[in-house]
Amino acid sequence: MVQEFDKVGVVGLGAMGAGIAEVFARAGFNVIGVEIDQAAVDRGRSHMDKSLSRAVSKGKLTEEERSGIDARLTFTTSREDLADADFVVEAVPERMDVKKDVFADLDRICPPGTILATNTSSLSVTEIAALTGRPEKVVGLHFFNPAPVMKLVEVITTVSTGEETVDVVTEVAKRIGKTPVAVGDRAGFVANALLVPYINDAVRLYERGIATRAEIDAAAKKAADLPMGPLALADLVGLDVCLAVMDVLWEEYRDPRFTASPLLRRMVAAGQLGRKTGLGFHEGRSEEPEPRA
Ligand code: 3HC
Repeated sequence: MVQEFDKVGVVGLGAMGAGIAEVFARAGFNVIGVEIDQAAVDRGRSHMDKSLSRAVSKGKLTEEERSGIDARLTFTTSREDLADADFVVEAVPERMDVKKDVFADLDRICPPGTILATNTSSLSVTEIAALTGRPEKVVGLHFFNPAPVMKLVEVITTVSTGEETVDVVTEVAKRIGKTPVAVGDRAGFVANALLVPYINDAVRLYERGIATRAEIDAAAKKAADLPMGPLALADLVGLDVCLAVMDVLWEEYRDPRFTASPLLRRMVAAGQLGRKTGLGFHEGRSEEPEPRA
């Protein structure tokens, strides 16, 4: 089944989309990356260029392999170019209106057999699938940041997802070198339902002045032998993404454990989203002074 796959579309080439496109191209698929305008295409390309150049300079890829990957990557600003895509991953911003617009187009443009996957981290895959005339062919395929590095992908199924779709997506995930875990469509799925409240708790500790940002991250890192602390992780994934996950957890369960920290909410309101805006818990700051709520 997967052997017949050739052309993979990736819609949205932000940090996640660019990483996802790179992962598919490195695994031998022909990838077409779609963005809204040329400037966004160029940003996505430069993200991939940087990542691939780093892999070459570290000896993880040869120049020949790099050229092969480049040859398998094409870019467009027209979704219509996905008319012959076998598999499409959507990685546009986390807004249901934007996702709805993309999925309405994909459903119209792509052949009926094309599987449509969303990389959403916080929205309902069921709601997205229900917008299409092919809900049995819609899944969540949730990558983790940085997508070229992190092995886990969550394959999110809905009450409408077909068995065959799950099998194909699971096989595709393995073929791109990931470890797929099948999970149901509940707020936060599995990984974010665990990870984001932990990040939120770290923000609360900080907000209460229990320890500095550096101390909180150092403690968590050392305690659990993690590659980075929770506040640095918030900067990496985006404070807006963390807040969106907290809010869907709250909406679904109305459990006080899932109330977002006021500081997290204020920083998002102020546009301090972490790496993507250059200001976050650590990003763009010396250790002192501390950000104020
Ligand atoms: N793109 C591509 N490759 C990258 C990269 C990027 N943005 N950032 C790092 N890498 C690669 C490096 O090239 C290096 O590759 P190598 O091992 O082949 O040489 C490797 O990752 C390690 O990088 P560095 O040596 O530069 O730096 P670190 O060792 O500090 O690792 C890190 C950086 C990979 C980000 C590591 O700190 C880490 O794994 N952090 C945890 C990340 C995490 O938990 N992500 C999940 C977040 S939750 C999420 O995304 C879900 C969402 O819905 C919220």
